[in-house]
Parts: sequence; C-alpha cells; structure tokens
Amino acid sequence: MSRLRALHQPRGRREQQALLLEGTHLVQEVVRLGLHPELLLATPDWWEAHPELIGALPAATALRTAVPEVLEAAASTRSPDGVLLVLPAACLPQPRPETDPPSFVLALDRLQDPGNLGTLLRTALAAGVEEVWLAEGADPLQPKVVRASSGAVLALPLVRLDAEGLRRRLGAARRRGRQVVATVVPAEGAAAAVPYWQLDWSAPTVLLLGNEGAGLGEELAAQADRRVTIPHSPDVESLNVAVAAAPLLLERWRRRTAA
Ligand SMILES: C[S@@+](CC[C@H](N)C(=O)[O-])C[C@H]1O[C@@H](n2cnc3c(N)ncnc32)[C@H](O)[C@@H]1O
Repeated sequence: MSRLRALHQPRGRREQQALLLEGTHLVQEVVRLGLHPELLLATPDWWEAHPELIGALPAATALRTAVPEVLEAAASTRSPDGVLLVLPAACLPQPRPETDPPSFVLALDRLQDPGNLGTLLRTALAAGVEEVWLAEGADPLQPKVVRASSGAVLALPLVRLDAEGLRRRLGAARRRGRQVVATVVPAEGAAAAVPYWQLDWSAPTVLLLGNEGAGLGEELAAQADRRVTIPHSPDVESLNVAVAAAPLLLERWRRRTAA
C-alpha cells in the first residue's frame, strides 16, 4: 500500500521507476498499446465487470483484489473507479537519439499546470506529434497529468530536459534541417510573427510553446527560425496554452490529410 502511495510523488516514481495508472480507461489503453504492467489492483465489483480486460493483460501481471476502501487509500483520486495499475517506466516509448529528431516535435517551456500539460499531450498525440520535449515544469508522469492526457503519456515519447538541454536539442534539430517555430501572443509578436496558417507546415518542425505566465523564454525564442501567432481580439492578452496548442498542432494534420 505505501509503495502505491509513494507513486503519487516524484521521488517514489524515481525510486521505483514506475508510475500509477488509475481507472478503467487507462487499463484499456495499456491493453490496446500492448504494455506490460507489473500489478493490477481492483475491487471485486470491477473484477466481475471487466473479465475481458483482465484476460487481455500479459500473464506476468500480478493480479490482486482489494476492498474499495483499500483501493481508495492507494489512489490519488477521491473516487477511483475500482482499478489501479502499476506500470514500469521502462514500458514507455523511447525517444529517438538527439542527433536524429523526428519530423514533428512539440517542445514545452516550463509548463506548470498538470491539467494543461495533460490536455496538451492528448492534443499532441491526436495531431501526429512524434516526440515531446519538456524543459522543466510539471512532471508528465504524475497521476493528474496521466489522467488529463487520457493515456497519451503512454504512447508519446517524452524527453525531460533543463533549459540548457532544450537549447542544445533545438540547435541539433536545426542543424538537421528542422524548422524551429516559436509561438507568440499577438500583441508582443505582431511585428515579427505570421498567422499560423501561413507557415510551411510540410517542413519538419519543432513547435515551441511557452509557460502559462511568462510565455517563451527569451533565449529559446531567439533560437526560432519562424514565429507564428493565432490572431484574436485585443480584449484578451493571450489564450490558455492548451487552447492555443489545438489549432496550431492540428493545422499540420489538416494540411496532411486534406484531399
Ligand atoms: C498564456 S500564454 C503566455 C502569456 C505571456 N504573458 C506572454 O506574453 O507570452 C502561454 C503560451 O501559450 C501560447 N499562446 C497563447 N496565446 C497565443 C496566441 N494567440 N498565439 C500563439 N500562441 C499563443 C504561447 O506559446 C504562449 O507562450
């Protein structure tokens, strides 16, 4: 039990090299992606309602039942829907080498809010992003982010970096011919930025999004080849970062899939 509760905290996740997944939807995602959880803990009711999911887990998964009170004590949510999983971090998809970045990367500068981060990761997966580079900010493997991402963290290769590490990766990506694109709010970027639909989205791209309060760090923004903005009314200074991500990321998908 204390082992499961320790997974609510970064230190526990680091020491155990594992993460805690809560709820039926994440069990379905684990099965769909063919991942190998270490442990499934479920109430007798859940067990009875989901024999097909239990049957679809790898044989090596330890299966345990627990009364709802025990499950609730181990979970990070107030009312977990009857099931928890422990997944070794080694199951998560691995990023490509720094010298060979994929053709569509989302890079996040100090994203703080777990809900924003999870929502962004879900949109990134929907938009065909191949890797996410995270400079500092919220831990993407914390239960809140995992839930908000609807399981996208299980499918997207994530690279956690400090600010210097992200600058180095951006430099390496540019040397490999990727365009680095900074996103800026209309007022600040109006002079230098183009509306996002004018960008050449067919080029291999690293898209940079900034911190909720401070926006993109100066040094990161200075590394960009292009600046794009989502024009909107001056009645608001900016959009929520996860809201801004949707039109930007999905524009590339729209162009690629348009007849
Ligand atoms: C809440 S905004 C940060 C606001 C901050 N005061 C600033 O000046 O950048 C967080 C991030 O969302 C993205 N963003 C928000 N509104 C945007 C817009 N209209 N166009 C492009 N990106 C936007 C940018 O990546 C920005 O760094």
